Formats: sequence, structure tokens, C-alpha cells
Amino acid sequence: MNTSGIERAVAILKHGGLVAFPTETVYGLGADARNPDAIRKLYAAKGRPGHHPVIVHLADAAQLPQWAREVTPLALKLAQQFWPGPLTLILRRQPQVSDALTGGQDTIGLRVPAHPVARTLLSAFGSGIAAPSANRFGHVSATTAAHVREEFGASVELVLDGGQSEVGIESTIVDVTGAQPRLLRPGRISAEEIEQATGVPLAAPDLDAPRAPGTLPAHYAPHTPLKVMEGDLLLELAASLTRQGERVAVLACGTRQPLLPGLTWLAAPPDPRAYAHDLYANLRALDAAGCDVMLVERPPLTAQWTAINDRLGRAAAGCRRP
Ligand code: TXA
Ligand code: MG
Repeated sequence: MNTSGIERAVAILKHGGLVAFPTETVYGLGADARNPDAIRKLYAAKGRPGHHPVIVHLADAAQLPQWAREVTPLALKLAQQFWPGPLTLILRRQPQVSDALTGGQDTIGLRVPAHPVARTLLSAFGSGIAAPSANRFGHVSATTAAHVREEFGASVELVLDGGQSEVGIESTIVDVTGAQPRLLRPGRISAEEIEQATGVPLAAPDLDAPRAPGTLPAHYAPHTPLKVMEGDLLLELAASLTRQGERVAVLACGTRQPLLPGLTWLAAPPDPRAYAHDLYANLRALDAAGCDVMLVERPPLTAQWTAINDRLGRAAAGCRRP
């Protein structure tokens, strides 16, 4: 990233504008976390309801106390082990943190991302950048600068291009405000890795847990109605739908492509890391084919695939049909 791009980004943020930037998980749409007007602009651009909290990105864990009033030893342990990286911690917030960021809750989501462009931007900006994923509310996240442009067009002044996001799905979110840490959103960093790092078992999410819209049943949805199913069922349904003249998009995970007319077929990588890396680009590519329906072959139901199955389930729940 050239320094003039970073300088322009910092200037835009300081004037209350929005800048999209790459992180290792997905692209973020950033605003100055200390500027309530900029946060309002951010929510409006995303089409996001105001009571949904947003993650604040920091250059470094040393900035934690400026945002969180209680940094427990357990939170520090997780920060030390996984930052910079794809982990968001939910902590008790400092009183001066804007309600616009937290949806009025007493907690704040904080993350130190690892992407070099994000790190350079955060260091140059010198304060927290509030950044939800750079997609319209409920829609598929963006893992390239071109995806961000597809989502927002010219309404975002600057998109810093840092290539394709390496992880491909959003950060793991752990709520560390209670006696026991709680997993709010699965991600590349697994539940097992969190438990190993803390030596404490994770609690199951409950109704008292802070709200996390990424955990709404309907999220990450393409425009084409999406269904997740086993490979054999998928082949049967694809055959019957194409016979009826429907155009069918398929994201396969091991099943071989049959010879059928009206089929758009993508073979996803068989390894969960590579699958996650390509997931949103694959959903976008299939969406762009303009088919009547998108069928996704269900990946294995093992721990390595938890975050992917979580996103696919929500993408399916976010669709109007079938
Ligand atoms: O990987 C990521 O986390 C990306 C990149 C850009 O950092 N960001 C991202 O942001 O996925 P977003 O806004 O799309 O999802 C953030 C999730 C939401 O589900 C939000 O509710 C939750 O984090 N969250 C933020 N602050 C929270 C809080 N105080 N309590 C509970 N959940 C919170
Ligand atoms: Mg999101």
C-alpha cells in the first residue's frame, strides 16, 4: 500500500468520512470510532439498524484500556495469544465510549487485525476505527476491494485495496465479560484453540449474552435463494429443477458435476481453510450467474467446518425462497 493512500484514508476518517480497508478476515467499512456523526454515516451506508453494536479496530493491544474498563487476565491471555489476528473480544466498555458504537450496551467489541494495510492505517490514524464488514446489512461479506465497490458504489469515498482477504470469513467473537468465556461467533480460531489458550471451557451462548447480529439466524445471504443439502439430494434436485427449465447454481464440495443443461457449477476446495478463503467470492460468482436457485453441498459436520457451516446456515436462512 502506498503511503499516499494511507494519508488520504486518515484525512477522510479525521473529517468524519468512511474508508473501506482490507483485513485478514473480510473487508471492513471504517469510521472514526470517537465521532458519533461518522458512526451514524456508517450505519446509514450499511443499512444497519442502530441498536446493533460494531467492532472497534485497534493498532495494538496497548490501546485496550482506552476502550475497555475491565481487562481481565483471561482477556489479556487471549489478546496476547491471538492478536494481531482474527479474534474479537467483547469487554466491559469505558464510560466515554459512544452509545452509537455499542447499541447502548455496557460492552464493546475490540479487535487488533493482522492485515498489513489495516495495521498501517490503524497506526497512522492513532485511534480506534469502528468497522463492520463492508457489505450491505444482511448481505454476503466482501473479501476483495471489487466486492466492496459492488456493495457501495461511489457512496464510499475510498477503498484501500489489499488483495483478497486471507481467512475469508469474519473473526471469531468471544465474550469475556462473564465468569466463563462465551463463543458468540465461530471463526478461523476454533473453540478448541480458545479453550486451550485460557484453560477454561467455553460457556454455551445464552439469552443474557450481548447481541451479535452476525449471529442472527438470517445473514450473509446472496440474492439468489440458497439451500444447503447433502450431495446425493443435491444431484436429484438439480436434475429435477433443470428438467423443469430452472437455472441452477451449485457450490459443490466433493460431488462431481453431472451433465445437465442450465447448470452453473463451482467446485469448492475440499480443505476448510481454502473453502473459507473462497466462500464469499464463490457465493458472489454464483449469484452473478442469475440462476433461479443456488444449491450448496453440505460440507462435513466436523469441528474444522463449524464456522463455514454456521455461515452457510445463516445464508440459507436469509433467503426468501425455497
Ligand atoms: O472479521 C470481522 O470481525 C470483520 C472485520 C471487518 O473485522 N468485522 C465484522 O463486523 O464482521 P460485523 O459488524 O459485520 O460483525 C460484528 C459482530 C456483529 O455480530 C456485532 O453484533 C458483534 O460483532 N458485536 C460488536 N460489538 C458487540 C458487543 N458489544 N456485544 C456483542 N456483540 C458485538
Ligand atoms: Mg457483517
